[in-house]
Amino acid sequence: MRKLALIALLSAASFILLGADDRNCGQQMDSFIDDLMSKMTIEEKAGQITLVTYDRRFMTGEAQSAGVASKIAEGKIGGVFNVMTIEDKIDIQKLAVEKSRLGIPLIFGLDVVHGYRTIWPIPLALSCSWDLDLIERTACAAADEASSEGVDWTFSPMVDIVRDPRWGRVAESSGEDPYLGSRIAEAMVCGYQGESLDDPQSMMACVKHFALYGAGEGGRDYDMVDMSLNRMYQEYLPPYKAAVDAGAGSVMSSFNDVNGVPATANKWLLTDVLRAEWGFDGFTVSDYTSVGELTEHGLGTLAEVSARALKAGLDMDMVSEGVLKNLDYCLEKGLLTEADIDVACRRILEAKYKLGLFENPYLRLGGQPVDREKYRSLALEAARKSIVLLKNDHNVLPLEKDAKVALIGPLSDTRWELMGTWAGAAAMADEGVSIKSGISRYTSSLIHTAGAPITDNPGLARMIGVNIERSGDPDSLISEAVSAARESDVVIAVLGENAKMSGESSSMTWIGLQPAQRRLLEALVATGKDVVLVLLNGRPMTLEWENEHCAAIVDAWAPGLQGGNAVADVLFGEYNPSGRLTMTFPRNVGQIPIYYSMKSTGRPHIPFRKYRTGYIDCPQDPLYPFGYGLSYSQVDYSDMKAEYDPVSRSVKASVKVTNTSARAVEETVQLYIGDATASVTRPEKELKGFRKVKLAPGESLVVDFSVPVSELGFWTPELEYIVETGEFMVGIGPDSERILSSSVVYEDVQALEAIPVGLFLCTPY
Ligand code: NOJ
Repeated sequence: MRKLALIALLSAASFILLGADDRNCGQQMDSFIDDLMSKMTIEEKAGQITLVTYDRRFMTGEAQSAGVASKIAEGKIGGVFNVMTIEDKIDIQKLAVEKSRLGIPLIFGLDVVHGYRTIWPIPLALSCSWDLDLIERTACAAADEASSEGVDWTFSPMVDIVRDPRWGRVAESSGEDPYLGSRIAEAMVCGYQGESLDDPQSMMACVKHFALYGAGEGGRDYDMVDMSLNRMYQEYLPPYKAAVDAGAGSVMSSFNDVNGVPATANKWLLTDVLRAEWGFDGFTVSDYTSVGELTEHGLGTLAEVSARALKAGLDMDMVSEGVLKNLDYCLEKGLLTEADIDVACRRILEAKYKLGLFENPYLRLGGQPVDREKYRSLALEAARKSIVLLKNDHNVLPLEKDAKVALIGPLSDTRWELMGTWAGAAAMADEGVSIKSGISRYTSSLIHTAGAPITDNPGLARMIGVNIERSGDPDSLISEAVSAARESDVVIAVLGENAKMSGESSSMTWIGLQPAQRRLLEALVATGKDVVLVLLNGRPMTLEWENEHCAAIVDAWAPGLQGGNAVADVLFGEYNPSGRLTMTFPRNVGQIPIYYSMKSTGRPHIPFRKYRTGYIDCPQDPLYPFGYGLSYSQVDYSDMKAEYDPVSRSVKASVKVTNTSARAVEETVQLYIGDATASVTRPEKELKGFRKVKLAPGESLVVDFSVPVSELGFWTPELEYIVETGEFMVGIGPDSERILSSSVVYEDVQALEAIPVGLFLCTPY
């Protein structure tokens, strides 16, 4: 994590640290691009800001690019994405380099979201590891694999804060919390981009979806967002900013509107905030046809909206080809000037220069060798650390080796469904490990049967690629499963979602087990055997009944290539589960949105009674809170201390953690701070630090935290970031609910005036 530690320093001191070499490099790049642009026609410049797609199998919208080859040869394309083979990329690059007039190389993009050939757990799962070093290593390995096959640029990380599990894309996120999300965003950018972008083993990151894409109304994909500026700054923008500060080379605009203007044409967002306020100097790209979709938003014709987006600060147009197709019209009508296009074109050329493409257009197309074997063990580590143990009654887990197991469920013998969303390049699905084959390593006494289809809802089945007819007669499936259960010591039911039930365009109104699966589970529970529910899922699910009736619940998410081995390692105790939730699990859909950092309101829900905030038909707390997760050990928390240290201007806190069990454990110690009195309303608590510690059996450790005073601040209604003096609650614990807390008073002479830590520089809107 050396690089991460440096980020803060580097971003603060980048102007001072810029050495003569860097300046020379910058000058060389500028004069190279000046020279090149002086030779370019305006059509060629419009071409550079045009990104097209290639392989129809990976379309994420209704439109598809046409005539790609001839446009490339005419110098009218700047980049291509979804080219899946290295041979195709070489051919296409040759067209650009050898056939187009100026031979400007293309940039190749792809959604390398959680691995390329080797698939890690989905991002939501990986975030549950709370292991920044691991996350950085997975991004770095993904860059190594993808760049070896010509990918220069990944559309990742997705850093949208998500608080609505109905939205299918929570699977691609790091969950609900801005602090954790920011740290993960930094780790991923560092992992992808490495030390230098022109290193052939690195690729450029693209932070997405800027901004607020995770806050769509009703959890519906692509839907509108309406949010106060205050909340934006406090809770939703931090991860994007963290990724920009970590040096991300590009930013993708989101589909939704931000304060009434779609992000793709939002000058305030793309220019005032991103560039003027945050100092971003890379390039921006639209999402898939989000420029063209501005017409559906009702903003005008393709020519008008394309010009508007460009002027707002959007550099590259993904798939709509709006400026390219309407260039003459835009110029004639004065919608655009050549100077407008120059700004965007220069940014794309700069990115290509930084990626080393002008020096060698085939830099990442030389078939660099990749040691995939070592990535297989990384995939296993990642999957193990992502699994969250949600329940474990009477220590039913871990299982004895050679236990007599009934392995049941439509997801128990699949490799592909374990990959989750965005795994299109997973050539290694064939090498993937199903849960059945993982478990077979531990017991030969295994009866296996599917028990039910994933769903018996015909409409849903069509959307998620399930053939209900082929699943067999539901009653016979269940009775076969029940007989298997009766013959066994324990039932492992592998249920949940297949890969297509989460991800893009997969919003759901029902996030419990599908009724067909639930019927199966009820029948299994009725046998009286201990039922261990292993969940495969891309989102938090509603599991009240399951929590009440299953002996244990293991949330495996979509665990990737080594998922089957990792699940088996957890079930049989080879690995002591350590994952912690990064998104709250509601009891039912009616509780959404529910997240740990809610404000108390003037009528706090605890204790709940009439005329208080909350519901009269359901408990107010979630089923499983943010930060929650069990292990096979018992860790006690004691001796919590916290004080404000005026010398270092930080809150110093510590807690003693003791492993009282006979099994080594990795514990994620979490620190929360709540602003007890402030001039604005504040959340009851917010995550402000965490540490993962290993504890041997019986071992005690004192875990220290130091939280700089700047972390205690907030954005005022005038959008000034200030820290106010006064009382703060400091809490430490194993999750966001079970915390030991203490009160700290922050009041020193220097701080009597509010400290402006970052000032809002531009007028909003
Ligand atoms: C649409 C998705 O919203 C975005 O995340 C992705 O990067 C693009 N399609 C390109 O595939």
